[in-house]
Amino acid sequence: MSHRFRSTALALVLVTQTHLTGLAQSVAASAVDYGRDIRPLFKERCVTCHGAVKQKGKLRLDAGALILKGGENRVVAPGDSRHSDLLVRITSDDKDERMPPEGKRLSPEQIELVRQWVDAGAKYPAEEKIPKAPADHWAFQPVVRTVTFAGNDASAVTAYTQLRTEHSNNFVTFLTGGGASASSPYFAIPESRLSPGEVQSVGASTVPAGNVVRSAAVFFRSPEDRTLTFGAMPSAPELRLVSATPTARLRAHFAMQADYDRYTSINYQQGQNTVVSLSMSQAYATLAPGGYDLVIPELTGVTGFDPRWALHTGTQLLWTSARIGGSLASNYYTMPHEGDVSRAASDAGFITP
Ligand code: HEC
Repeated sequence: MSHRFRSTALALVLVTQTHLTGLAQSVAASAVDYGRDIRPLFKERCVTCHGAVKQKGKLRLDAGALILKGGENRVVAPGDSRHSDLLVRITSDDKDERMPPEGKRLSPEQIELVRQWVDAGAKYPAEEKIPKAPADHWAFQPVVRTVTFAGNDASAVTAYTQLRTEHSNNFVTFLTGGGASASSPYFAIPESRLSPGEVQSVGASTVPAGNVVRSAAVFFRSPEDRTLTFGAMPSAPELRLVSATPTARLRAHFAMQADYDRYTSINYQQGQNTVVSLSMSQAYATLAPGGYDLVIPELTGVTGFDPRWALHTGTQLLWTSARIGGSLASNYYTMPHEGDVSRAASDAGFITP
């Protein structure tokens, strides 16, 4: 009796097997699992085009919720693989339709896994994290605060934010559009994202009149609403010829201005190839009776001096001046600190000595 029962059971199993493909049976051996079977497959074969970076057909396949959401169309009908475009695509023989569009097609086993996953309701763990797009990275998500301009007139202001790191003198700069308004939004990095010792700054520049450019910056770690105060209009340098021979030597005298007391420089360019630059620091200017009094020295006679390096009379030259003030040391390599401010003004003009 028991023997007969056993053989009947065996016969049943055999019948069933002839109706199933060997393939389906091997897959059926254990229920398809999204995390084990589907996610790694799509990650390997689909996500370069359907993931956080690229979304061909507006479709992402890197999270269950997004697969079900679909792209331009719904691509999965849970429980019904025959009406799921996802299956149409991976089984298609039409090369304009087939997915992935390049490389080898999915194997019959892989297709079967997808089919069974869909037919079983396209389930995925509710807690699955949706991978973030690179554009969601914090570096692309600066905080926005307001910078208010003081000491400005009606001229347009361009604001910019910079990051100054300890280990490099490189700046990362965000520009905020120019405009004549009294304030502007500015972009900054959340303080929690800065390394110790790093500072950022918001700066702005304005062109109030003629060739004058004024700029101001404030350094800080924590982005807050800030006020930037531009320095006064720089007074134009008094330019005078000190001697005409053997070389033309000019004197540039700058009135003392508290807003620009740290550093002053002047640059002369005559023709294409001759540039003469002079600069003076605050320490020097306070020692000299004339303050910021920049006189080109007579260098003829200095060994190796080439007279072509000197200016000469009778030809127009372009001068440009720069003045710097504020709490920041003029030495470029000094790291600014929280609360440091810098102010600068430049000017330019033509003169024929
Ligand atoms: C090399 C890039 C590339 C890869 C890899 C790729 N696809 Fe696509 N896919 C596309 C492009 C392009 C489209 C949009 C054009 C179209 O519909 O054919 C698309 C569209 C689709 C659509 C239709 C979307 C809709 O909303 O109608 C589905 C479904 C799809 N892909 C599934 C897959 C699957 C599944 C894989 C991996 C097995 C895959 N794709 C791999 C490029 C790719």
